[in-house]
Amino acid sequence: MKKKIALIFGITGQDGYYLSDLLLNKNYKVHGVKRRSSSVPTKRIEKYLNNKNFFIHYGDITDTSSIQNLVEKIKPTEIYNLAAQSHVGVSFFTPLYTANVNAIGVLSILEAIKNTNHKIKFYQAGTSEMFGKTISKIQNENTNFNPQSPYGTAKVFAHHITKNYRDAYNLFASNGILFNHESPMRGENFVTKKIISSLTKISLGLQKKLILGNLYAKRDWGHAKDYVEAIHKILQQKKPDDYVISTGKEYTIKEFVNMTAKLLKLKIKWRGKGLKEIAIDANGKTIISVSKVYYRPLEVDYLKGDSAKAKKNLKWQSKININELIREMIDFELQSLA
Ligand code: NAP
Ligand code: GDD
Repeated sequence: MKKKIALIFGITGQDGYYLSDLLLNKNYKVHGVKRRSSSVPTKRIEKYLNNKNFFIHYGDITDTSSIQNLVEKIKPTEIYNLAAQSHVGVSFFTPLYTANVNAIGVLSILEAIKNTNHKIKFYQAGTSEMFGKTISKIQNENTNFNPQSPYGTAKVFAHHITKNYRDAYNLFASNGILFNHESPMRGENFVTKKIISSLTKISLGLQKKLILGNLYAKRDWGHAKDYVEAIHKILQQKKPDDYVISTGKEYTIKEFVNMTAKLLKLKIKWRGKGLKEIAIDANGKTIISVSKVYYRPLEVDYLKGDSAKAKKNLKWQSKININELIREMIDFELQSLA
């Protein structure tokens, strides 16, 4: 049988790392797109660079001609769009840029597919941030979107334009609506990685303090390794469709801190309220405090996903629980410090 050919935009990020691994193991030819950078952009995916089925090209989803050229040259069977300015907080500082990448960039890929080959299957990396300020206690594919950031708003455009192209041009174009997913490969400025990296260093006496923002937002955290399996399954269905991918369990940031501290055997006690809230260690030293700097102009207070449709149609459910996820992330930090 002819090898399937995948083209991944966003291959240098967290999900790109895990999706590459999955597709290479399934005997795909994997092509990925990297951007020019002043530092090494392929750090995460270094271990695949010598694989004979792995190819990296320069490109950018804001550069329409580069997308068109790559689609014509590579002739992919499947395109995964994982590329985004993916930090919600940063999107308030770079709203136009974020819209350009996260919304218009997606439209450019769809146009390239439409103009090249309607048979190419397309995956768009949608997000639970699209639900935003929701009144639903648990969110599924029928829950209304009410985004609270330039990031979430741009992703809503991407979601709808993907559906539009599916319906108007009969493209196999599907949206994942993925809830937060983490791993050792997570970017440094997302809250789980920041907490685990800092508390590990604090437990070893290598850092004094961790400063956080809102401790009371709730998130539904899964493992990226599980979630890329769902992403792949979404493109192997008979028909294109949209799927919520989540664990169905939610925790506050503070609970995540407590779980991490417990696994590190770091005894902490919380004191105070609001911006004065702190956590002290067994010696009474303040090791966690709160700063306005990390608050966002608008917050998404709680997210909890209902993946019943994915369970039924994709036969998918998350396998790695939150304690296993934190344990793996701690072990990775310890190894990188050794
Ligand atoms: P990530 O680690 O931040 O990776 C983002 C990727 O997009 C990187 O490879 C980045 O390249 C690339 N990129 C950014 N702008 C680009 C552009 N203009 N052209 C081409 N590539 C560009 O994000 P992730 O956690 O892997 O998430 C993957 C996707 O899923 C994103 O679209 C994100 O919004 C979405 N998502 C993530 C989660 C989650 O919890 N992780 C949940 C729901 C949805 P550089 O390495 O050069 O920066
Ligand atoms: N980043 C960060 N840093 N967040 C903090 C901090 C901090 O110091 N302190 C508290 N938080 C809170 C944020 O206000 C937010 O409520 C929560 O921690 C999670 O923040 P992030 O880890 O930055 O993730 P996110 O939920 O905003 O966005 C992630 O998940 C989305 C899916 O729901 C990203 O991966 C998005 O790309 C993704 O779409």
